[in-house]
Amino acid sequence: MTAQLIDGKVLSQRIRAEVAARAEALAGRGRRPGLAVILVGDDPASAVYVRNKVKACAESGLHSVMEKYDATLSEAVLLERIAALNADATIHGILVQMPVPRQIDPHRVIEAIDPRKDVDGFSVRSAGELFSGLPGLRPATPWGCMKMIESTGVPIRGRHAVVIGRSNTVGKPMALLLLQAHATVTVCHSATPDLKRHVQSADIVVAAVGRRHTVTAGMVKPGATVIDVGTNHDEAGRLCGDVDFETVREALGPRGWISPVPGGVGPMTITMLLANTVQAAETVA
Ligand code: GUN
Repeated sequence: MTAQLIDGKVLSQRIRAEVAARAEALAGRGRRPGLAVILVGDDPASAVYVRNKVKACAESGLHSVMEKYDATLSEAVLLERIAALNADATIHGILVQMPVPRQIDPHRVIEAIDPRKDVDGFSVRSAGELFSGLPGLRPATPWGCMKMIESTGVPIRGRHAVVIGRSNTVGKPMALLLLQAHATVTVCHSATPDLKRHVQSADIVVAAVGRRHTVTAGMVKPGATVIDVGTNHDEAGRLCGDVDFETVREALGPRGWISPVPGGVGPMTITMLLANTVQAAETVA
């Protein structure tokens, strides 16, 4: 018997239905939630992500605008566009797709966004709200991971959670969200000497490294819950995660849970971005 699957597509559909209902209720009061997505340059992967975000808005009844700029765009012009979107009452969320070209400082861009419209949850203010346990806009990917863990019904309180990776966008906020849910949290990273020792005692594992084969069958405890945030490619060019899916699924046994790649965290990230945009529209003064 292998571990049960955490299906990000099914969970996404359920949450998107709720998001669409909230969007419709706001629209009925003359405030249809609106997202602005800015893409600078022509990175093909970023173009796909941005297109998917705009498409998801349309499917859930959110208004969206997409602004695409040449890779030579100056930081000053980008900051002017952000200022205009900050003042635009039809826009409740602003997202500048990362990475941005070298002449643009990503931190300055993120901090230029009105914090009430920071639907990526990347600003110092949003990070501070998460750190302090205050309400606010949470980064979409780790928030989606929390929804996936919660969907299994396994308890988080008092359990040992191991987060592998310490990025500002996933690892660090993930650790804080788990801590807020009363888990005992260990954060492992590239300088952790014995990853296996930590993962072996984990009830919950979130792998967010960006390297294949980071979590293998010999590392996991039977009955654990494993969330795979990785988006890598195998020799054949197929999308794969940080976890050796088939062998780890077997090792987790029937009481375990595992999320696949694709069809796991990926769909949840866009869903939680939509949820953040609706939340931002709901909280407009
Ligand atoms: N690039 C890759 N993921 C993301 C994301 O979640 N938000 C933004 N703004 N850029 C990204």
